[in-house]
Amino acid sequence: MNHLQLTPLSNAASAQPFGARVTGVHLPTITDSDFSTISDAFLTYGFLIFPEQFLTDQQNIEFGERFGELEFGAAKIANQKKLDDGNYGKIYSLDSRRMRTNVGNEAWHTDSTYWPISSKCAMLSAVKVTQTGGETQLADMRAGYTALDAATKAKIENLSAYHSTQFSQANDLGDFPPTEPGTLYHGEAYLRPLVKTHPETGQKNLFVGRHAFGIPGLSRSESRSLLGELLDFVVSEPSRVYQHRWRVGDTLIWDNRALLHRARPYDYSQPRVMTATRIAGDPASELACYPDDPAAAAGRAALIAELEWLKQEQVNH
Ligand SMILES: [Fe+2]
Repeated sequence: MNHLQLTPLSNAASAQPFGARVTGVHLPTITDSDFSTISDAFLTYGFLIFPEQFLTDQQNIEFGERFGELEFGAAKIANQKKLDDGNYGKIYSLDSRRMRTNVGNEAWHTDSTYWPISSKCAMLSAVKVTQTGGETQLADMRAGYTALDAATKAKIENLSAYHSTQFSQANDLGDFPPTEPGTLYHGEAYLRPLVKTHPETGQKNLFVGRHAFGIPGLSRSESRSLLGELLDFVVSEPSRVYQHRWRVGDTLIWDNRALLHRARPYDYSQPRVMTATRIAGDPASELACYPDDPAAAAGRAALIAELEWLKQEQVNH
C-alpha cells in the first residue's frame, strides 16, 4: 500500500524550508490524517507539489475546499477558450484583454490582494503544457524578510502600500482600461502592510509584489524605489526562488500570504491550460476594507493620482 512521502526541495541545512514534493498519495482519496500532514507541511514549506494527480475539475474543487472556503474553483487559466462541449477553441490573440492579464502575471505578484479579502492559497493543476517555457516561479517572502538588515526592518515595520491590479497593468504593461466596478479594474486600491505576520505560523514576512504602490507617508519616488528594492531583494537570492517545470497532471499549491509567484513566458501560439483554484483568506487577517468603508476613499484617491502619473509618463515617453 502506498504511503505519503514528503521530499523537501530546499537544502536540508537551510533555516527556512522552502517547498516539498508529496508522493505516494492520490489527492481525491487521502485520509484525514494524510490531509493533516499535508496541511502542516503547507505551512512549513510554503508550497507543495503533487506530481501525477490528473485531477478533474471536481477533484480540484474538493481538494481546495479542504483548505477552506473557495474564492473560485477550477477556473481555466488558458490561452484558449474552453467550449461548452469540453473542447478548447482557438488560441487568444496576444492583444486580447485575457492575454494582457495572463502576460501581466509574468511579473512577481500576490493573488487577490487587489480585492477586499486577499487569498489564503492558490492551487494550479496542469492540463496542457508547452514544450518549453510556461514555468511557474515561487519566491519566499519569509526568508526575504529574515535576511533584511535591522535598519530596513525597522524602517518598514509600520509601512503599508496600496494594492491594485489596475495599477500593475498600467505600470507593467501600459494598459489603462476604463474603471468598471465588478471587474479587475474596479477603481479601488487596498492598503496592506509591507510586513505581514502570518496568521497561522506567527512568522513575519515581506508582503510586496507588482500590485503594490503608494506607501502613505512616503513620496511617490521614495515609495517606488523602496517597493522595487524590497521585491528585487526577495528574488535576488536563488535559495529563495523555486521554478516549477510543469508536467501534465501536476498539482501545485502555495501560500499566497507568504510567497510571491509569477508565470514564465512561452510560445503563445501553443496551447497552455491550467486549472486554477483559489482559497479565500480569513477576513480576520486578509481583509483590507470594503469599498463602502470610509477608509476606502483614500485608496481610490491614491489610485486615481497614481494612474494620472503613469499616463503622464506614458505620454512623455
Ligand atoms: Fe497569480
